[in-house]
Amino acid sequence: MKFFLDTANLEEIRTVAAWGILDGVTTNPSLVSKESRPFKDLIAEISRIVPGPISVECVSTEAGAIIGEARELARIAANVVIKIPVGIEGLKATQSLARDGVKVNMTLVFSAGQALLAAKAGAAFVSSFIGRLDDLSQDGMELIEEIAAIYGNYDYATEIIVASIRHPRHVIEAALIGAHIATIPFAVMEKLVQHPLTDIGIAKFLKDWGKVKT
Ligand code: G3P
Repeated sequence: MKFFLDTANLEEIRTVAAWGILDGVTTNPSLVSKESRPFKDLIAEISRIVPGPISVECVSTEAGAIIGEARELARIAANVVIKIPVGIEGLKATQSLARDGVKVNMTLVFSAGQALLAAKAGAAFVSSFIGRLDDLSQDGMELIEEIAAIYGNYDYATEIIVASIRHPRHVIEAALIGAHIATIPFAVMEKLVQHPLTDIGIAKFLKDWGKVKT
């Protein structure tokens, strides 16, 4: 399973990149708005820190404009992936960009039908927001199961990104289903590595080691 970090914060990205388990980064307009650095400069810096896919979102809403914006964003760095919200204009743009070899991450996907359309349009990635579905008392992980089954039926190459992750259990359930990628907020990434019994175990081993004759 590939781990992406769901942030535009350079400190968080540098920290997790140093752990040696980071495969990519996903940003969105809300995440970018929290950072003070100029947008393109920020993305270029992220692209230098992490060699894997860096998703950057288009804010245009009409296919022609999305394509123009996507081409401009793709020039920032070779590993930039273009994030496009699912919809008719987004599908038109995705189909055209994918045909020209531009990698698209179709985002804001909340149904299996949207994910199927994204794959048919040639999206390299599909981002399904499970936490936001859970927030509405729906089971977000059921959506991942459906998408994984559909893509498996037809051998679509589109990789499933499990997004809007709220806690470590989301990551585990996504891995059990076999989703290709989890894009994880920094706070959840930290929780994933922690366990109180590990801390207690280390403290006891160190205490006991103090009694060993060396
Ligand atoms: O990056 C997209 C997604 O992960 C956002 O999550 O927490 O805003 O629902 P959230």
